[in-house]
Amino acid sequence: MSKDKDKGSVDPNRRAVVIGGAAAVAGVAAGIVIGGNAFPRLLKETVIEKQPEVVTKTVTQTQTVQVPVQQTYQKQMVANYNSLTVGSPVTTTYMGYPITIVRTGVKSVGGVGPNGDVVAFSNVCVHMGGPVQYDPKTNCGVCPYHYSQYDFTRGGIQVIGHPNQFLPQVILEYDSTTGNIYALGFNRLLYGVYDNIAQAPSSSSS
Ligand code: FES
Repeated sequence: MSKDKDKGSVDPNRRAVVIGGAAAVAGVAAGIVIGGNAFPRLLKETVIEKQPEVVTKTVTQTQTVQVPVQQTYQKQMVANYNSLTVGSPVTTTYMGYPITIVRTGVKSVGGVGPNGDVVAFSNVCVHMGGPVQYDPKTNCGVCPYHYSQYDFTRGGIQVIGHPNQFLPQVILEYDSTTGNIYALGFNRLLYGVYDNIAQAPSSSSS
């Protein structure tokens, strides 16, 4: 009898433990389900940030540029061979620059004419702009300012004095049919200018 009684009765403490355990298991299960639904959603979320669109445009501009007309030396008649005598210089101008033309009597560097002895040079000393004068005794151009000398038979090389460069020589052309002698340009920069052509005092030509 007591055995049945024992069999039918349940210890209240034991029942509480059983119920508590079941609730705990249910709670854990629910937690897993809830948690399983909540956390993965957060982890799977992808954040897409929209970047401002970059637009590339090609702009074509048209500009009008004025190109200067090319300047050149002019061909200018400066003497006639038949009017020249050895050792007697003639002074004239070429494009407004003062020059000396002379027959040196010997074949000279840059010389024209039947004997290659007609040469022409700038009259302006390249030291400080003094007036160069031809000396027939030495065939040199002499500057009275500081006594520098340039050899007219050797392309105007400085032979004494201050200059550190040649005297600018006129490039000549000889017409054997007429005897005319033409200036075509200078072979180096003249004293006091940065551009022989652009700064020429005169652009007249024959
Ligand atoms: S200016 Fe001619 S030597 Fe000085």
